[in-house]
Amino acid sequence: MTTERIPVMADGLPASLLEVLGPEIEILEWDDSPQSPALSRAVAFITYGHPRVDGPLMDRTPHLKLISNHGVGVDHIDCEAAKQRGILVGNTPGCLDAATADMTLALLLAAARNVVSGDKFARSAAFTHYDPSFMIGYEVTGSTLGIIGLGRIGKQVARRARAFDMQILYHNRRRDEAAEQELGVVFASLDDLLSTCDFVTLNCPLTVETTNLIGRRELGLMKSSAILVNVARGGVVDHDALLAALKSRRIAAAALDVTSPEPLPRNHPLLELENIIIAPHLGSAANRTRRRMEQMTVENLNAGLKGIALPWRVV
Ligand code: DGY
Repeated sequence: MTTERIPVMADGLPASLLEVLGPEIEILEWDDSPQSPALSRAVAFITYGHPRVDGPLMDRTPHLKLISNHGVGVDHIDCEAAKQRGILVGNTPGCLDAATADMTLALLLAAARNVVSGDKFARSAAFTHYDPSFMIGYEVTGSTLGIIGLGRIGKQVARRARAFDMQILYHNRRRDEAAEQELGVVFASLDDLLSTCDFVTLNCPLTVETTNLIGRRELGLMKSSAILVNVARGGVVDHDALLAALKSRRIAAAALDVTSPEPLPRNHPLLELENIIIAPHLGSAANRTRRRMEQMTVENLNAGLKGIALPWRVV
């Protein structure tokens, strides 16, 4: 006797995720084209590499009950449209906080201490002798850090920054007095944070309120020695304004784990600058974290397909 498998449309799943899916699941390759046979059959989506899912796509998927997202950020999914249609959305919060905070510090340190440009130089013929007057970066220990978005990831950034004896300001929509007590962080208005801090890290989700939060005016408030680190989403920073600020040395440097669009077009002028580091969205790309994200994605999927509560539900 053959039992029908459950059709789930997914984009580019790795073998490690396929291995944790049950045999009852039939994976359909992501196809959102007008005549897609996958859309007419899928009862669930797994969104792995952030494919865009909007209301019209949901409407073209008549049996869609559930979207299980690999990752915590769901800005590529129109969650309001899903809610209106009674489609559940699950994500993978918590398990990636530490890895993403590690990456925030890695980029901050790399930008402050010329790790990437130093690597390039050390491999080149130009490196002929040790020169103590050369490639002098910015002190991290004892400096002031501003965290924009003191949520789960931002708090982990604060914990790590304390080990560097940094003074830590944060900006959120609301004050978090418990975090202030626990982490010794100080609430600041956005403008005060930007004008005071040596390093500013973006650790907030991309929402209507945070889109282009850091633009020309905000970059203009920062110290000329300041370094901006974005481990949130590219859309939080106005890239034209950032380009102008880096070119004119209005700020010292930027380190981006995320861009908008992602990737940037290969001829994008930001790619030409020396005072920027760009990583290919590696915030949560650590081995144990990735495995846990895969398990949580599948646990959400299995729960939704069985009609029981998603362990990690967005809407
Ligand atoms: C997230 O969790 O949102 C990361 O960006 C990886 O997808």
